[in-house]
Amino acid sequence: MMAAGKQPSLTVPTETSYGRDRLKEFSESAHWYHCITFPSGITTKGVYNHDQYLHYYGFPESLAGLTVLDVGAADGYFSFEFERRGAANVLAIDTNPFDGSVPTDVSLAKLAQYESKYDSVYQSNLRFGDVYESLAVPVGNNLMAARAILGSKIEYRNLSVYDLHALDARYDVVFVGDLIEHLKNPIVALENLAAVTGKVCIISLSNVLPSRSLARPDGESSLARRLFLRLLSSLGVQIANTSRGIEYHGEAGGGSFFHFFPQTFRRALLASGFGRVEIKSLFELPHLRTGVAVPHAIFHCYQARRS
Ligand SMILES: C[S@@+](CC[C@H](N)C(=O)[O-])C[C@H]1O[C@@H](n2cnc3c(N)ncnc32)[C@H](O)[C@@H]1O
Repeated sequence: MMAAGKQPSLTVPTETSYGRDRLKEFSESAHWYHCITFPSGITTKGVYNHDQYLHYYGFPESLAGLTVLDVGAADGYFSFEFERRGAANVLAIDTNPFDGSVPTDVSLAKLAQYESKYDSVYQSNLRFGDVYESLAVPVGNNLMAARAILGSKIEYRNLSVYDLHALDARYDVVFVGDLIEHLKNPIVALENLAAVTGKVCIISLSNVLPSRSLARPDGESSLARRLFLRLLSSLGVQIANTSRGIEYHGEAGGGSFFHFFPQTFRRALLASGFGRVEIKSLFELPHLRTGVAVPHAIFHCYQARRS
């Protein structure tokens, strides 16, 4: 496979081309997922602000000379951060066509709700047609708008995690933030991610189930508990190992299909082509609209040694 290429530099408009007041309105009232701060100090009103939580992800301080793939990049907060850390090349991909259609896997039970949600996102962004036009980016593509305002050179492609083979490249660092739990076919995605990872794939998983500690990454119980379970089993009493479970949520409104125990997810990663997997951190990220503290786990997945 080829290494990811270097992209050409672009001339970009600055935020002064449409006025500070209009930029403020755009940042506060268009539909943003990420809180991104522009050079003027204006910050987009996103659903999550990752600024105080970046250390949990364990990204290398310097990405100098490395190629980075950001899968499911949304508004691009992490891609811009990778560029700031000196990455040689950042490719952000997402399935969002920015035309009001639903970009994510959705259960049939929730399809109508999601069609209405994405239509209303599109309508709210349409009110800023003048801003998108002055930035020369498609209406509703907030990643491209932020890229132009920041003078960033990251690349963007509309591409699904299910179609990573189309990239014909491996990336030194692959990042996948809060996507796998929203997929109907998470294992297919993990296998595809392992295939494009050059050095490390960093995965953030939201809505993880409560895990007592990082100390038992394989989800194994203590010796005493295992002996106790074996005794119960010999008496014909079967107790589920609740630290190895997955919950199904496709019928609920939150947009995710599966909630994993971190240890269970780690086993799926190891079985999907990664050579070594560390559970790097467990933390709660506040959802800024609902106030809910969403439990997250970060996984660092290293490429298996290739001969
Ligand atoms: C919950 S957001 C997470 C955004 C960001 N990665 C983060 O961690 O903050 C998930 C993103 O994945 C995108 N997405 C959904 N299905 C996808 C797929 N099959 N392939 C790539 N991206 C997808 C969505 O459009 C959305 O932008």
